[in-house]
Amino acid sequence: MTEPRPRPRSVRRRLALATAAVAAAGIAAASALIFTSPAQAATTLGASAAESGRYFGAAVSTQYLSESAYANTLGTEFNSVVAENAMKWDATEPNPGQFNFSGGDQLVNWAQARGMKVRGHTLVWHAQQPGWVQGLTGQNLRNAMNNHIAGVANHYEGKVFAWDVVNEAFEWDGSRRQSNLQQQLGNGWIEEAFRAADAADPAARLCYNDYGTDAINAKSTAIYNMVRDFKSRGVPIDCVGFQTHIAHNENLSSYQANLQRFADLGVDVEITELDVGQGSGQANTYGTVTNACMAVARCTGITVWGVTDKYSWRTDNPLLFDG
Ligand code: XIL
Repeated sequence: MTEPRPRPRSVRRRLALATAAVAAAGIAAASALIFTSPAQAATTLGASAAESGRYFGAAVSTQYLSESAYANTLGTEFNSVVAENAMKWDATEPNPGQFNFSGGDQLVNWAQARGMKVRGHTLVWHAQQPGWVQGLTGQNLRNAMNNHIAGVANHYEGKVFAWDVVNEAFEWDGSRRQSNLQQQLGNGWIEEAFRAADAADPAARLCYNDYGTDAINAKSTAIYNMVRDFKSRGVPIDCVGFQTHIAHNENLSSYQANLQRFADLGVDVEITELDVGQGSGQANTYGTVTNACMAVARCTGITVWGVTDKYSWRTDNPLLFDG
């Protein structure tokens, strides 16, 4: 499909509100309404992001939703969630064709009850594949991949605003990762996955997601070239996710320019798994990443990879809230 996909619902709603304001208040008054900062600044991450039509989300382990401190911080500060593990292949299809959506559904229900958005992560990845997938070859793996995408993306149709369709398919040097998918299915497998996801959920934003792509480097350039090729041939891709698992003193001198060059291809960009190692530069680095997203019109939101250091997948206290 070559038509641009619809903007996320929240952006459309803000535009509708702005348009209504123009009609009601007249041009001069409306300009003041739209272009001056709000009298009272938002006090949470999510509300602050929403002021510019963006989201600020967190990765969630559903097992902690019953902890009141965890649930309160998540529900108060954030306006988007992603499942840290519950929507991955091993969790959602433990046996061939037998789907288990219990964890993902729990998170979707929790988020919907609080008016929060849900990102989908991830349909196809070399890691966290169930055992039965790991040994498949040729057409059997192709069928398994397509059935998996159809089963999961159909189930969550209308419930997730975006999917990480393919995760981490490139190496640092810009070559393809030699995963079972790459070796068994050949170079076309990423395109095939995007086409299958588009067929299963035509309205969801379809993203390619990776790490180590925070600078203009060999890896991000290889992904850039793939996205440019996809856009030129009408392969349905809408967004690129930058995981942004970084160090406190990460060199981010080309971070914003990198986001912008992808946006200029006609895709949205999202910060999808942000966490920043503990150290003297930690807070500044969070600020640099956030300012870069704010400065790129097509940067639609930021997700941090967890709520609290207590439950981070990293051991260097990389999150916004401590234990
Ligand atoms: C991690 C989770 O945080 C861990 O709980 C799990 O054991 C392994 O996966 N890139 C990704 C995420 O795309 O899915 C990974 O999440 C972190 C790296």
